[in-house]
Order: sequence, then structure tokens, then C-alpha cells
Amino acid sequence: MQHYYAIEFHEDRVIILDQTKLPLDELYIVTDDYERIAEAIEKLEVRGAPAIGIAAAYAFALAMRKSKLNGDLRQRIDAVYERLKATRPTAVNLFWALDRMKYVAENSNLEEMSDNLIIEAVKIHSEDIEMCKRIGENGLEIFSEKKRVLTHCNTGKLATGGDGTAFSVIKKAFENGMVKHVFADETRPLLQGSRLTAYELEKLGIPFSINVDSTASVLIRDGMVDLVITGADRIAKNGDSANKIGTYNLAVNCKFHNIPFYIAAPSSTIDLKCDTGNQINIEYREANELTSIGNKSFTKDTYNVFAPAFDVTPAELITGIITDKELYQYPYKF
Ligand code: MRU
Repeated sequence: MQHYYAIEFHEDRVIILDQTKLPLDELYIVTDDYERIAEAIEKLEVRGAPAIGIAAAYAFALAMRKSKLNGDLRQRIDAVYERLKATRPTAVNLFWALDRMKYVAENSNLEEMSDNLIIEAVKIHSEDIEMCKRIGENGLEIFSEKKRVLTHCNTGKLATGGDGTAFSVIKKAFENGMVKHVFADETRPLLQGSRLTAYELEKLGIPFSINVDSTASVLIRDGMVDLVITGADRIAKNGDSANKIGTYNLAVNCKFHNIPFYIAAPSSTIDLKCDTGNQINIEYREANELTSIGNKSFTKDTYNVFAPAFDVTPAELITGIITDKELYQYPYKF
């Protein structure tokens, strides 16, 4: 059944499906502690650009509840904002959501602030559900017939408040009889593809297989894939798009083999303050994510490791960017 979610807010508590345990265990973290939510973002218990923004918004609201307010209000707002901002650097949705929350905090009177913040967090969440729906609808136009699709990382319900970004396009196309098969890149090192995308595809009954990331070029070359679609964590003003490491490889492969490469993302992922992808802050992960699986090392932990979590795909390699507003084409003007 499809009844699961990345994050829910219920009776002043946040409920997070722990994505580090999926698909083998479905365990929920229930908390009203903003620091625990910050940790959940850092540990990727909740992840995916829009979901991170939603989680941070609820965390902000919980941190600013009346009962927790003592001392200087302005200092508290700044401390909570800075703590949550420091959880992950690349997905702009985090900063976008936190800026909205801070604005509400600074522009409410003390009596109403608590309620206003909860209302704003719920609004950020429900707007995302709506944006996911629109992305799915707008993406349908890239499917003129039944297609075999390859995707990278996880962009579904687990990564957003709604049906997802690239995943929402796949879901909508499947419901319209337009998807023959989905190839899910495993997405090293944290396996968002083979664990999370597989989990979501299975729930919907969409035919799929998982492959190691380096198999994608062979699938594309051998004509086994009709189009590639991924999400994004931040899209610069010129269309350069940061997404999970390995996305750039896919775009280069698609260009070489003349296969369309699409990005799907909500408007909240477009960062007009970044002129180009060069200004996007890329997250680097800890060495142990590459040297071990779980607690088990499979190589020496003394080896040097290079572990960017994201790469930037230049705008000219992207066939189209599907947002909740429209399907944009190169050269991008948002
Ligand atoms: O490190 P993650 O799992 O948070 O990375 C997520 C991605 O790269 C997704 O593709 C991106 O956030 C778009 S999800 C709607």
C-alpha cells in the first residue's frame, strides 16, 4: 500500500519516517525537539530538498513555542535559524523555508508568534504537496508514448511533502499508461535509489529494476532507456542544476547518445541569487560513508576519500526543467 510519508505534523509533534532504515524496516521518529529534527536532517533520516525544507520549518516552529521562550527573543530566533541552516548546505529549499519562518517570527507579536509559525510551517508543507502535483501534470507532455525511464537518487514522497518531483512525473506518466519500465540507479554511497526509489516504485506497482550507477551509460548506449529524469537540490538563474552526485555523468551520457535529459523541481528549488552553478555550495560527506556499509568497513579507513554529495549539471545539457509553473527549455529564463 502507498500509505507512507517522509514527514507529518500531528498534535505538536513531528513524525519522521527514518529513511536510513528503509526499505527493510519502517520505523518512525516522533519528536517535539527541534534539535532532534536538526539531527535527523544531518543524518539523512529525512532527506530530499523539499522534505528538508519542510522538516526545518516544523523544527523552527517547535523551537519557538511559547513554553520554550525565555531570555532574549531576538537571540533565540537567530540561534534557531543558524542551527537549522547549518544542517545541510546544498538544497536551497532549506534556506527558503527558514527565511520564511524567520520573517514570520520577526513580524508577529509575541502572543501570536507560536501559532503563526505553526501555520506557516503547515503552509510550506501543503504548498509543496500542490507543487508536486503540478510538476507531475506539467511533466506529462514529455511522454508522447510508452517510455523506459532512468532516474537517479530518490525524488518521491520520501523526498518531498507530496508525490515527489521527478518521481511525480514518473507516477503521473505511469497512471496514464506511459511508463514501460523504470531503471533506478542505486545512487552510491547512501543508496537512495536501490533503497528508497525501489521502495516507492514497488508500492505503486511500477515495473522497475535497480542497477549500479556505472551501468547507466551502457543502458543509455544500448537503447534500453528513452529518457532520463532526475530532481535537483538547487537550480541557478541560468539553469545550472545541482543534484545528487552522478547526475552530471548521466547528462553527459544523454548528450553523447542523443537521449533527453530532464530535471523536475518545485519553484522553491530555483535560487535566483545564484547566477550560475559555480555559486552553489556543494556538500562533502564523511569518509566513512565510502569506506563502510553500516558499521562494517570494507576498505581501510586510513585511505583518503573524496566525497562530494552533489554535482552541478550545466544548463546546456538539460533538455527541459519541469516545474510546478511550466516546462522550461534551454536557454532558461525563470
Ligand atoms: O542527499 P539527499 O538524499 O538529500 O539528496 C537528494 C537528491 O539529490 C534529490 O535528487 C533532490 O533533493 C531532489 S528531491 C525532490
